[in-house]
Amino acid sequence: MRPSTVPRLIAAFTAVSLVAACSGDGGAGEGGGYPDQNITIVVPFSAGGPTDTVTRMIADPMAKALGGRIVVQNVEGAGGTVAAGQVATAQPDGYTVLMHHIGMSTAPALYKDLPYQPLADFATIGLVTEVPMTVVARPDFAPATFADLTAYLKANAGTVTLANAGIGAASHLCGLLLQSAAGVKLQEVPYQGTGPALTDLVGGQVDVMCDQTTNTTGQITAGKVKAYAVTTPERVKNLPDLPTTTEAGMPQLQVSVWHGLYVPAGTPDEVVRKLSGALTTALADPAVVEQMAKLGTAPVPAADATPEAHRAHLQEQIATWGKVIADAGVKAS
Ligand code: MLT
Repeated sequence: MRPSTVPRLIAAFTAVSLVAACSGDGGAGEGGGYPDQNITIVVPFSAGGPTDTVTRMIADPMAKALGGRIVVQNVEGAGGTVAAGQVATAQPDGYTVLMHHIGMSTAPALYKDLPYQPLADFATIGLVTEVPMTVVARPDFAPATFADLTAYLKANAGTVTLANAGIGAASHLCGLLLQSAAGVKLQEVPYQGTGPALTDLVGGQVDVMCDQTTNTTGQITAGKVKAYAVTTPERVKNLPDLPTTTEAGMPQLQVSVWHGLYVPAGTPDEVVRKLSGALTTALADPAVVEQMAKLGTAPVPAADATPEAHRAHLQEQIATWGKVIADAGVKAS
């Protein structure tokens, strides 16, 4: 994975029951018969959004590699922390897996009463992908360019609405960076995921949003939202006309959204290895590579789809974002 892109400026942060059945005799207890029942991958945001999209891309090829069945379940709420809290206390048998993103590393600094500790309560399976973000607006939003947008936000801060997927979501983080760099405070409108938020943006119910290319590419290409910039150092291949935030004059707005898979701490190592192996196989699947490319992203290199690389990245990101967020003095609760 390329070095994480971290903002250099943040001044104004403002703030189903899971299928966790016991493995039964000889099931996942030692990992020997694993899997012998359905595996659930919990997605912490709405169906149809970017996290859900990436999860569904890899679920089938992973299931095939494991010789089992994978069910995707959306458990929404509190910027992804509701789902993470549930998976943290699920049976550590490999049948309840969490897909989460950069929010796993920002939540400890944002939430005073977070009901889990990412490093202590989860075993890492492997990194999945790292997705660029785009700054988008409703189709009839007045500003034409990113410079126009910045000027418009400054002039109309009191009335502009900024959609996000809750405190701790990638869209929330990116929105904070945008506001900080522009020196404005917008009206934030939280959703359970950027899937529904994007629907409202297309419909004109909200004005602006930062969101991942895995959610926005189709709508940008179809002209259903206005796109201003991409938040990565390089342009995105299939959105070639979209300038980077650096090109557009806001180099401080740099963020890309890494994703990874987790199981509860205490899951047998053999099960973790099987899941990680299946992830590596899924990420090498040409259909997955193609689907991701169409949405502006790519699988991580095989060496990063491992428990060790994922854990090291999580550790580094918690430290990095923790400092940024602490310096800014933001808390969600
Ligand atoms: C989602 O799947 O809805 C997103 O990843 C939300 C976000 O983090 O902005």
